[in-house]
Amino acid sequence: MRRPIIIDTDPGPDDALAILLALGAADRLEIRGITTMAGNVGVDQTTVNALKICALGGAPQTPVHRGCPRPLMRALHTAEFIVGEDGLGGMDLPEPTVAARPQPAVAYLVETLRAAPDRSLTLCALAPLTNIALALVIAPDIARKIDSIVMMAGARDLGNVTAAAEYNVFVDPHAAHIVFEAGIPITMFGLNATYQAVATGARIEPLARAGGKVSAQVVAMLRRERPGGKSLGGDGGHPMHDPCVIAYVLWPELFTGRDCRVDVAVDEGPTVGRTTIDWWGRSGAPANAHVIDTLDADEMFARLAAAIQTLD
Ligand code: RIB
Ligand code: CA
Repeated sequence: MRRPIIIDTDPGPDDALAILLALGAADRLEIRGITTMAGNVGVDQTTVNALKICALGGAPQTPVHRGCPRPLMRALHTAEFIVGEDGLGGMDLPEPTVAARPQPAVAYLVETLRAAPDRSLTLCALAPLTNIALALVIAPDIARKIDSIVMMAGARDLGNVTAAAEYNVFVDPHAAHIVFEAGIPITMFGLNATYQAVATGARIEPLARAGGKVSAQVVAMLRRERPGGKSLGGDGGHPMHDPCVIAYVLWPELFTGRDCRVDVAVDEGPTVGRTTIDWWGRSGAPANAHVIDTLDADEMFARLAAAIQTLD
């Protein structure tokens, strides 16, 4: 049986690769829907980008629902200086011919989850967590329908937007707080894990050799220059944060982690958006997330390349 997932996303190059990986693993994963969020760029653009990526991956009819244009409380902080003006720097894709569905993302999440059996749907969260938090606030009964939330969010160590905060949590720390407190099984990919997933030349070589239409777009994206200069991870390549989430759903054996208590700082100031992870269990507070620590990045990229090539 294929595992049903909903992807909540703000494409974004690494979001794009995550969606393509899920489409390339269609024998194992069923994308029920994609919900978009403002983040890397505004929500109109992330919605267009999600539609473009689905078309590139040969699945233009994938339901895409436009989500929140802004976080719950704070002003939106976008990231064009990393991802380029349209959010998909390096890719050259035609305008989508299929429109987003009229139902807003939050309403879609509530309706779809209410109709689902208990613990039957996995949410893959690749963006600020506003859509998911709002759905949980409006309809707390949907929590039991979610098998788990696998998220790219936070950091065990240093942040990437500020010294303390990772981007997705920094943009909407209040939403992240709501989701971490919802009592749903969570697997968390923070920057400490995802900076191990750098798309080095060697790791993308199989895709460069493949040269098919999807592989070529992915390679162009992975080789592009960042408008704002090199990544905090160095110049070895772009960190592929979000594909780790889909890779974990497909191949959990490539990852290790630990159940921990995670608290989100919501008060304005230098630590807003920080995820404090009780790695050593000092507080005695019950764990609310499985926090990923290590991954076999070479094997992950090898499997990712094989999945992407099925779309060529
Ligand atoms: O901090 C990394 C996250 O921010 C990823 O989800 C990436 O797509 C960006 O949105
Ligand atoms: Ca993202």
